[in-house]
Amino acid sequence: MTTLFLMVGLPGAGKTTRARQLAEEHGALRLTPDDWMIPLFGEAEADGKRDVLEGRMLWLALETVKLGTDVVVDYGCWSRNERSAIRWLAEAEGARCRMVYLPVNDETQRARIARRRATAPEETLPMTEADILHGRAHFEEPDAAELEGRGTAGPPPGWADWREWAANRWPSFA
Ligand SMILES: Nc1ncnc2c1ncn2[C@@H]1O[C@H](COP(=O)(O)OP(=O)(O)OP(=O)(O)O)[C@@H](O)[C@H]1O
Ligand SMILES: [Mg+2]
Repeated sequence: MTTLFLMVGLPGAGKTTRARQLAEEHGALRLTPDDWMIPLFGEAEADGKRDVLEGRMLWLALETVKLGTDVVVDYGCWSRNERSAIRWLAEAEGARCRMVYLPVNDETQRARIARRRATAPEETLPMTEADILHGRAHFEEPDAAELEGRGTAGPPPGWADWREWAANRWPSFA
């Protein structure tokens, strides 16, 4: 059975570092939007282009598991709905979804962001205090049941299934 690893955590939590290790250990394809956004557009968001990129990457992730290769989706996935959608889509392809949540406290997070900025400036764009606070305010921490893949809810009212929800969240997915 192929595995889609889903990285979850705040900026600087260590997701991409862990994603690289998983890719190496499992011969998995690693999909990290920042590795594409920075060379293509020179910025991390670029007027909604990140959502467009992530949609195509999600399509690619599902193609990859269909081919029998493991994949690491390194998006951050702050919202429970995003995580539920990706899990449902992976399972619909017959793959298993393993969520990899990296909790990080405020002090460690700030130290890691500062260190990365100093040691690997080409890998990331400057992160402001507002960005850090925005993350803390909006991050929906996964609980034990979610991490174990138990009790995945259906999509919010108005959506037929998670595929439809995902096509709205990531416009290029469908
Ligand atoms: N377990 C760890 N212990 C110590 N330092 C770490 C650990 N994991 C990552 N780091 C360092 O912390 C910094 C941030 O890590 P990384 O880039 O992997 O975070 P990230 O979660 O991918 O962040 P972003 O969401 O901004 O992409 C890097 O300099 C990395 O080397
Ligand atoms: Mg990263």
